[in-house]
Amino acid sequence: MSHLMSNYLPLDVTFTAGEGCWLTDNKGQQYLDCLSGVGVVNLGHCHPTITKAIVDQASTLLHTSNWYRIENQELLAERLCGTANMDKVFFGNSGAEANEAAIKIARLHGQNKSIENPIILTANQSFHGRTMATLSATGNSKVQAGFAPLVSEFIHVDFNDSDAIKAFDGNANIVAVMLEPIQGESGVIIPDDDYLNNVQSICNNNGWLFILDEVQTGVGRTGEFFAHQHNNITPDVMTLAKGLGNGIPIGACLTKGAANELLTPGTHGSTFGGNPLVTKVALSIMDVFENDNILDNVNKQSTYIRSQLSEILKGHSAVKEIRIKGLMIAIELNVDCSTLLQKALEDNILINITGNSIRMLPPLIINKDEIDIMLEKVIKLINNAS
Ligand SMILES: Cc1ncc(COP(=O)(O)O)c(C=O)c1O
Repeated sequence: MSHLMSNYLPLDVTFTAGEGCWLTDNKGQQYLDCLSGVGVVNLGHCHPTITKAIVDQASTLLHTSNWYRIENQELLAERLCGTANMDKVFFGNSGAEANEAAIKIARLHGQNKSIENPIILTANQSFHGRTMATLSATGNSKVQAGFAPLVSEFIHVDFNDSDAIKAFDGNANIVAVMLEPIQGESGVIIPDDDYLNNVQSICNNNGWLFILDEVQTGVGRTGEFFAHQHNNITPDVMTLAKGLGNGIPIGACLTKGAANELLTPGTHGSTFGGNPLVTKVALSIMDVFENDNILDNVNKQSTYIRSQLSEILKGHSAVKEIRIKGLMIAIELNVDCSTLLQKALEDNILINITGNSIRMLPPLIINKDEIDIMLEKVIKLINNAS
């Protein structure tokens, strides 16, 4: 009998080592990792710079407390704010925690305006986490099932429909709009080019905070360091996690302008948040991005994948839509996908199935030869599924 709770249903494989885009299981078999631990291990497994940062920091100082100044945290905050053109950072340990901070900031924004029943607008089919507030923000009834009463008050509107948000113009109870720039968990749903710009101006006109959940899209995944940088905008609040730690647990909530001073001493905290180890690792990740031109690789490989997929799958009877931004890739099929995950594993490749889409989030360091292997295996999967 397993003593683990039943909230996961893992596939029957145990990985024991990883290097770059490759994983090895306990039987010595190798697998191409095109999932990156769900968009986490963006610089690949056991990147030497990150490993060195972990070892160096672990042999110097792991943890003190946020009751004392932490130099690595201050340096990382400065670096992130410089890259994002934002002002302040709170560090937690996960995406959900970063979003909890954002939601609390939105509540305080409402309190400052004497709003008694603050409302946050979020999107249908969104995913923001599994804590009570973040699952309430999430626009997916499956994530919420069984956990009533939910945290009020989130109103869900259709994604990629700025008119649905504009319809609330002048509503005095709204404090914020919270969106993913691209919806990841629901299958790489990419909005129109001007959607985020339109939402930002609606937020500005109404004095609502514009919160972007970049937990999955942030840290290079879409070809800019932050996905909203494709739109030349800056949100009031942005959350990060996943790729910021490459496997070391870290979350961050960044603010700008009116959102900067809402958290005051005693209003929020986290024991582990931003400790010397995790912030050292994140600093080393930012070094690798700069020194190794990671974004150039994301954009180059993304263009290659797009051209290959559109050529090879053109007119394919099983393919409904191909969606790609940077190295966030989804191929939506019009056939049953339920067995594809297991079949992919049997062919030594890690992917994800979300709804009827094959989703791939390969490490951002992936090279052309590895992409050719990925494409060959995925196309074989699609051919066999149809
Ligand atoms: C957009 C988004 N927000 C929040 C989360 C939750 O992050 P975590 O699992 O680190 O709490 C996820 C996780 O997949 C995510 O994709």
